[in-house]
Amino acid sequence: MSKQTLNIAVIAGDGIGIEVMPFGVRCLKAAASVYGFSLEFTEFDFASCEYYLKNGKMMPNDWKEKLSQFDAIYFGAVGMPNLVPDHVSLWGSLLKFRREFDQYINLRPCRLMPGVPCPLANKKPGDIDFWVVRENTEGEYSSVGGKMFEDTEREIVVQETIMTRVGVDRVLKYALELASSRPKKHLTSATKSNGISITMPYWDDRLQKLQGGYEDLKIDKFHIDILTAWLVLRPEQFDVIVGSNLFGDILSDLGPACAGTIGIAPSANLNPDGKFPSLFEPVHGSAPDIVGKGIANPVGMIWAGQMMLEHFGFKEAAAAMLKAIENVLARQEAHVLTPDMGGKGGSTESLGSAIEKEILALG
Ligand code: NAI
Ligand code: MG
Repeated sequence: MSKQTLNIAVIAGDGIGIEVMPFGVRCLKAAASVYGFSLEFTEFDFASCEYYLKNGKMMPNDWKEKLSQFDAIYFGAVGMPNLVPDHVSLWGSLLKFRREFDQYINLRPCRLMPGVPCPLANKKPGDIDFWVVRENTEGEYSSVGGKMFEDTEREIVVQETIMTRVGVDRVLKYALELASSRPKKHLTSATKSNGISITMPYWDDRLQKLQGGYEDLKIDKFHIDILTAWLVLRPEQFDVIVGSNLFGDILSDLGPACAGTIGIAPSANLNPDGKFPSLFEPVHGSAPDIVGKGIANPVGMIWAGQMMLEHFGFKEAAAAMLKAIENVLARQEAHVLTPDMGGKGGSTESLGSAIEKEILALG
C-alpha cells in the first residue's frame, strides 16, 4: 500500500554525489508526474565534508530530529579523503544513519543490464538477476571485545559475533517475504555452520523454525565459501540470498561486480517497520578522481531512486523506471553513455537526461 505523498530528505554529500543527485531527482519527478503521485524533496547540506570543514562536525546536533520526519533519505555519496579522513566522514554520517535509524536490512539487486559488458563469460541479461539481503546492524560487526596485554608476548584480541533472536529473525523474515513475492520463489541462506559452530547453526536453526509458513518456497543453504564460487560459476541459479552482516557484505559486493560496472549499482538501507526513515543510495562513493569532469555515471543514483519507489509500493512507476534504464542502456549509444560504460562523448547530463526522457515516453 503506498502513501500518496512521499517526503524525501535529499543529501547529495560530496564529490560526484553532488553531480548525479540532480538526475536522480529529475527521474523521480518524471515518474511521479506520469504515475500521479507526489514527492516532496527537501535538501540538506550536512553529511558532507564541506559541512565538516565549515562546522567541525559532519552533521548538526539535531540531525536525528530533522531527518526523523521524512519517509526516506535519498543519499549521494560522502568522502573527500584529501581533506577529511574517511573514518571521520563515514562514521560521522552514513554509519550513524544506518545504526540510529535501525536500518537493519541492506538490500542490493544484482542484475545484468542489457548493453553492460559482463565480467563473467557467456552471460546475457536475464542470466543474472538476484537480490542480496544483508543483516545490517549486528552479527560479526560488533563492538563487543577488546585487547589485553598489548605489546607483550601475551597480547590477545577478541571480537565477539553477536546474534540476537530479534536481529536474526527479522532479517530472515524479510528475506522469506521478498522471496515469496518473486516468481522464482527461491531463497538461499549463506551459512558456515561447519566452521563457525555456535552462531551459524543458530542462524540455520532460526531459518528452519521460521520457514514453516512458506511451503511454496524453495529454500536452500550453502556454506559461504562454496556460495561465492557458485555465484561466479552459476549466478543464474540464485534468486534471493540472505546473509549475516559479514557474509552479506561480501556477497553484496561480489554480486554487483558479477553484473558489471560500479557506476550503476544501487543499494537500500531499510528500516522496514517504518519507525525511522530508510536510506537509498548508489553503491559507489564520491569518486574524487573524476569529480568536476561531468562524466559520473548517474545510473546508480537513479536506480537507487527506483528502489525507493518500489519500497514504498509505487510498483508501476518503479517498473517503468527500471525499464527506462534498461532501454537506454540497451541502445548502446556512445554519445549518450558515460565513459565507464564504453561511451564516447557521453556525460552525466546526456545519460541522465536520456533516462528521464525515456521515463516520460514510457508513461
Ligand atoms: P568510489 O566508488 O568513489 O570510486 C571507485 C572507482 O570507481 C573510481 O575510479 C571512480 O572514478 C569509479 N566510479 C565510482 N562511481 C562512479 C560513477 N558513478 N561513474 C563512473 N565511475 C565511477 O570509491 P573510492 O575511490 O574507494 O572512495 C572515494 C571516496 O568515497 C572515499 O572518501 C570513500 O570513503 C567514499 N565512499 C563513500 C561511499 C558512500 O558514500 N556510500 C561508498 C564508498 C566510498
Ligand atoms: Mg562492502
